[in-house]
Amino acid sequence: MTIANSNRRQFLQYTAMGALAAALPGVSLAQVRSGGRAADQSFKADVEIALTAQAADVSILPGAQTHVFKYSGKLLKGPQTALTELPGYLGPILNFERGQKVRIYFDNQLPEPCVMHWHGMHVPQVMDGHPMYAIHRGERYVYEFEVNNLAGTNWYHAHTHEMTATQVYQGLAGLMIVTDEAERKLELPSGEYDIPLVIQDRSFSQGNQLRYMMGMHQRMQGFRGDTILVNGRTDSAIPVKTRAYRLRILNGSNARIYKLGWNDGTPLTAIGTDGALLPKPETLPYIMLAPAERVELWVDFSGRKVGSELTLQSLPYQISASHMGGGMGMMGHAAGQSEALPIATFQIIGHVSDSPKLPDQLIPMRRWTAKDVTDSDKIVPIAIGMRHMSFQLNGRTFEMENHLEIEKIPLNTMQRIRIFHEGGMMGRGRMGGGRGGMGMMMAQPHPIHIHGQQFQIVSRMQTDASSSRYDTIKDGFIDSGWKDTVLVMPGEEIEIIKPFKDYTGLFLYHCHNLEHEDMGMMRNFYVG
Ligand code: C2O
Ligand code: CU
Ligand code: CU
Repeated sequence: MTIANSNRRQFLQYTAMGALAAALPGVSLAQVRSGGRAADQSFKADVEIALTAQAADVSILPGAQTHVFKYSGKLLKGPQTALTELPGYLGPILNFERGQKVRIYFDNQLPEPCVMHWHGMHVPQVMDGHPMYAIHRGERYVYEFEVNNLAGTNWYHAHTHEMTATQVYQGLAGLMIVTDEAERKLELPSGEYDIPLVIQDRSFSQGNQLRYMMGMHQRMQGFRGDTILVNGRTDSAIPVKTRAYRLRILNGSNARIYKLGWNDGTPLTAIGTDGALLPKPETLPYIMLAPAERVELWVDFSGRKVGSELTLQSLPYQISASHMGGGMGMMGHAAGQSEALPIATFQIIGHVSDSPKLPDQLIPMRRWTAKDVTDSDKIVPIAIGMRHMSFQLNGRTFEMENHLEIEKIPLNTMQRIRIFHEGGMMGRGRMGGGRGGMGMMMAQPHPIHIHGQQFQIVSRMQTDASSSRYDTIKDGFIDSGWKDTVLVMPGEEIEIIKPFKDYTGLFLYHCHNLEHEDMGMMRNFYVG
C-alpha cells in the first residue's frame, strides 16, 4: 500500500477523523504522524522516480531464493535511460545528467524504519538522508535536488540509525551515475562497453539465506563474508570483446577492503575516483578499495586471444600492525587477506578491430593548497579513537542532533581537515600500543567518509612507512582525484581540503566500515 503523494493531505484529513486508518493495511495513525516529507510543487522536476524499499526473494545462489531487502524503482518522468535494472538484489542504477532536477518518491515498505542517502552527492541537509529523517513502514519521503556533481559514479544506500550495516547487508544499495558534457567530449567507452561492478562480500546459510554475525570481536572488526558477490550475483563471468572498456567499481561491502589486481600481473589503469574522473589516467600495480570508495578503470582487452580470460582479484595484503600491544595481533591480522580472492572473470569472446584510445588528459582539476583555504591556520580535526570497546571520532560517539564547537564550520568556506589516530599523532614517537583497547584501535583501517562536497587529499603520512606490512598496500592509493571517502590505514595521518558551500545544517562524517558506523563512529559537522 502506498499513499499517492497528491492524496496525502486528504489522507491525513481522513485519518485525523479516524475514518480510514483501519482500512489501510500496514498504515497506522502513529506511523503517519511520525514523519515523511511531501513534494514541493514549486520544484519543477526533470526526472521523477519512485523507489520502494521492501522485502523480496531473489535468486542469488543455485537452489532456494534468498530473502533480501530491495529497492525497486519505477521511472515516472524523464528519459528512459534514467533507470536501469540490475538482475541481482541491488536497486536500479539511477543515471542522471548534471543540471537535472530530480524528484524521488521513497516509500518504506520494510518492517523497520529507513532513510535514503545519496552517497557522494552535494545536496541540502533535508535531502541528504541524515538518520533523523528516517520514516516508518507505510510512510513516504520525497527527495528533491538538483544534480550539481561532476560526472562520476556515486551510490545510494540506507542510512538508518544503528541499522545501516544490516540494511545495506540485506540489499539496500544501488548505483547513481552522473554524466555531463565534459565527460561526453572524452568519448570514453559507453553503452555495453561501460560496465558497473558493485563488489560485496556476504555469507549464506545452508538454505541460501544471508547470514550476519555478531560476536563482539567480529563487530569490532566489521563484517567479512566468505562469498564475493558482483552486482548481487556469484557467477561473475563477464563476456567482453578485444577492445577498451570502462569499469565502474564500487566497494559496497560493509567492512572488507579489497586490493584489486589482475591475475596475470597486468597493471591497472585508473581513470576515476569517488566523485569524478581523474585529471589524467594513472597506472598502478594494484588498487586498495575500501568500503564506499569507487574507482573507474580503463581496461583494454585489445590484443588478447579470443577464448582467453582475465580475472580481477583481491590480492593478499597485510594490515600494518606492528604497534599493537599484546593479545591484539590476531585482530590486526584478520583485517588483512591471506590469499588471492577471485572477484570477476572477463572472458574474451569476440574480436573487434577498432577500439577507442585512452585520452591522456581527462577532467581538469586544480590542486588546492593552503592558499585556497579560508583560514589556513585552522585545522579541523577528525581524531579516530576508542573508549570502552567502541570507536569514536573526536572523543565522542554519535549524537543525532548535536555537534561540538570544533565541528562547527562556517558556510561557504574551504577547510583543512586532518584525520589521525588519537594517541598516534605524528612526531610523538611510538604509539601507545599497550593501553587497553588502544592497540586494537591502532591496528584497524578506517575508511572515513564526509558527506557533502568532494574533497582533495593533500597528504598521506605513515609513521611506520618502513614496515613490511605497509609495503603490501602502499602503492595502491589514488590520492590525486576527487574523493568523499579516504582509507586511513593504521599509523596514517591524512590531510584533506574540503569545501563547505551552499547548504547549511548538519552533515555527517563517519567511518564507512558500517559496523563501526553503527557502533557510533559517526558525528555531525554543523555548517552555518
Ligand atoms: Cu555512504 Cu553517510 O554514507
Ligand atoms: Cu555519504
Ligand atoms: Cu572504522
